[in-house]
Amino acid sequence: MDNFTYYNPTRLIFGKGQISQLAAEMEPFGKNVLLVYGGGSIKRNGLYDQVTAELQKMGAQVTELSGVEPNPRLSTVKRGIELSRENGVDFILAVGGGSVIDCTKAISAGVPFEGDVWDLILKKEEPKQAVPFGTILTLAATGSEMNAGSVITNWETQEKYGWGSPLVFPKFSILDPVNTYTVPKDQTIYGIVDMMSHVLEQYFHHAKNTPLQDRFAESVLLTVMEAAPALLENPENYELRETILYNGTIALNGTLSMGSRGDWGSHNIEHAVSAVYDIPHAGGLAILFPNWMRHNVDTDVSRFKQLAIRVFGVDQEGKDDRDIALEGIDRLSAFWTSLGAPNRLADYDIDDSKLDIIADKAMARGEFGNFQSLQKEDVLSILKRSL
Ligand code: NZQ
Ligand code: ZN
Repeated sequence: MDNFTYYNPTRLIFGKGQISQLAAEMEPFGKNVLLVYGGGSIKRNGLYDQVTAELQKMGAQVTELSGVEPNPRLSTVKRGIELSRENGVDFILAVGGGSVIDCTKAISAGVPFEGDVWDLILKKEEPKQAVPFGTILTLAATGSEMNAGSVITNWETQEKYGWGSPLVFPKFSILDPVNTYTVPKDQTIYGIVDMMSHVLEQYFHHAKNTPLQDRFAESVLLTVMEAAPALLENPENYELRETILYNGTIALNGTLSMGSRGDWGSHNIEHAVSAVYDIPHAGGLAILFPNWMRHNVDTDVSRFKQLAIRVFGVDQEGKDDRDIALEGIDRLSAFWTSLGAPNRLADYDIDDSKLDIIADKAMARGEFGNFQSLQKEDVLSILKRSL
């Protein structure tokens, strides 16, 4: 293993009816609240009424920021910062999916920051303070509810970047599987692909002696793969929603990356694609990740082989390591396709006309990928395989 320090201060409050904990959790932080949410799903499914009733009971003064976009935009972050400053907000409550939470993280760090918040996203500056915030998660996918990362899109310049700071761990996150019942089928599929991709990003590393980490990661993949098809048939099944929700958090709350450095190249390429085409994050991953794997299978074929055998049950008889590895990759892609995820950029009407622009955007912070460092020609090759 690589040396590591593990730190995660987010209080995870999981289960049915856990919104009842909201008042006690917010108690230490003051009552002037910015309530952040997306395009209206929480109004349609009744969660908004429940949250505002709780806030009213505790005598909170509430300012609202609604309309946070999927792939949240810098312009919305700036609106949130202005609203928070104008109203002297001392706590932010995010109610939604990863986009609402990521937007909230940028607002949280942006309010006390005197410069341009985009410089924090570009990592030109480090936040020194942040307004405390909590979340009520409504979609199992990103892990943003229990990590310190955030991804923001600058639509004017067509840039989408991840950034993070220990200051933007949520103080608490309330995860009630019931709040995910209304997630539509496509978003449920994207969430499943996203959490599996997070596991895979962390699985591809060069650290030695990570037997427990490997089996943790494989367990998450196997558990998600077992529950996913059944969930798509039974979207209001509590146990299945519960399983997927818990897996989504574990997939990216630091548990799987103790002692190793995952790759994250597929995420970087996907962010470049969705900066140009505004496609759903995990729709892009379902297309790109298997092709990243095919491109890099020779980097350390033993990792791909182990995955193929342990997770995808590939039969080894009469095959060399490379064949086994490639068959595992095909099975991963076939599994995602069987759920209904896209597997070609053409599924989003993306052709080869902007591949060069996308590759330049992926390279904007220099070569990337901890398992396999990628240059522009690698990115182009992965994109071309994905057409
Ligand atoms: O906006 P509303 O109306 O709420 O609708 C949302 C949105 O249209 C809807 N939705 C969410 N919960 C729902 C629901 N609809 C019905 N019932 C519910 N209970 O789902 C749509 C997508 O929501 P979004 O928050 O965009 O999805 P997700 O959680 O997948 O977040 C995606 C964003 O997170 C970033 C992605 O790049 C993307 O911008 N990521 C963040 C990460 C992190 N912070 O750690 C890591 C990830 O790899 C990822 O990059
Ligand atoms: Zn992701």
